[in-house]
Amino acid sequence: MTDLNHAVPATMQGVVVLEPGGVEQLKLVDLPTPPPGRGEVLIRVHAAGVNRPDVLQRLGLYPPPPDANPRLGLEVAGDIVAVGEGVGQERLGNAVMALCNGGGYSEYVVVPAAQCMSVPPGLTMVQAASLPEVYLTVWQNLVWTGGLKAGAKVLVHGGSSGIGTAAIQLCKRFGAEVFVTVGGPAKASYCEALGAKTYHYKTEVWEDRILADTEGVGVDLVLDMVAGDYLDRDLKCVADQGKIIVIALLGGRFAKIDGARLMAKRAELTGNTLRPRSAQFKARLCAEVEQDLAAGFASGHYKPLVEAVYPLQQVARAHTRMESGESFGKIVLKIGESE
Ligand SMILES: NC(=O)c1ccc[n+]([C@@H]2O[C@H](COP(=O)([O-])OP(=O)(O)OC[C@H]3O[C@@H](n4cnc5c(N)ncnc54)[C@H](OP(=O)(O)O)[C@@H]3O)[C@@H](O)[C@H]2O)c1
Repeated sequence: MTDLNHAVPATMQGVVVLEPGGVEQLKLVDLPTPPPGRGEVLIRVHAAGVNRPDVLQRLGLYPPPPDANPRLGLEVAGDIVAVGEGVGQERLGNAVMALCNGGGYSEYVVVPAAQCMSVPPGLTMVQAASLPEVYLTVWQNLVWTGGLKAGAKVLVHGGSSGIGTAAIQLCKRFGAEVFVTVGGPAKASYCEALGAKTYHYKTEVWEDRILADTEGVGVDLVLDMVAGDYLDRDLKCVADQGKIIVIALLGGRFAKIDGARLMAKRAELTGNTLRPRSAQFKARLCAEVEQDLAAGFASGHYKPLVEAVYPLQQVARAHTRMESGESFGKIVLKIGESE
């Protein structure tokens, strides 16, 4: 490994989960600083994004893939302070945001070089750390799987979430029309300000209203993080030959759907999860999303939507905030003094 003049300490602080369970299981401990292997870089982390999958992993409900770093943290922003074999020296000192294979809640993390993306000009490290996981997920699903196009009508469940807000901004940038479900009026106003039409899932039969609002035609794509009994409701308001893409199971793993409606509409039901995908897949996705983020921030279509920032020592507060159901957009952990 080659390192920058920055002296990499032998030990670092990082968060571990003592036992699967509540936020009291999150502990900041001293750990060995990992060396980058072939094709990898060591990032000095300035900020790490918090995602719902981290909460599920802490609870023991989302085990990491066997070859992943078992500690929490799927995305970071920071600078490259050491490179492994096969990675060019010119990467040393680069400010990057990265998709991690775990371990991002730390002072240092090792990441495949191909999963690092340049920070769009003008963004702080905290803002940059809020981008990789959600934009990579929505790009993979809406663009690659869904074939998102200008003029498409897209339903996104959980519009005010990290994933939901990225999906709204991506849809607007593509010139698509976006419909979202939300849990309350404050979340509705937030999503409307981003350009989405909103439906209150606790009080409205959203599938009927969406059908009415699309003159009975329905939506071309559904990005569904709820699944469970939402799948049959999605089928009611998806257009002929529309596609429903499941990315999480907040509403339950099993579902009963009307197969006749699926056939009559020639609709497609599919699903995706990013974490276990191959290094080659993630590298290709990062390369494409890096370009989209640079262009989207330059054109003003994208805004970073960070609603809360906590120091790494307060990781338990960050998880409590996410679990409260009151958060909007993204929560980020800050490490050190950089903004
Ligand atoms: N497949 C993948 O590759 C992948 C990658 C990343 C994340 N994910 C998944 O995507 C989901 C969102 O992640 P995040 O980090 O953005 O989480 P988050 O900010 O905590 O958001 C969770 C969202 O779920 C919404 N929700 C819960 N129950 C709902 C219901 N019955 N109807 C409609 N919306 C409902 C909430 O809406 P309200 O707040 O309005 O109630 C909230 O906006 C998580 O489940 C995560 O595991 C999947």
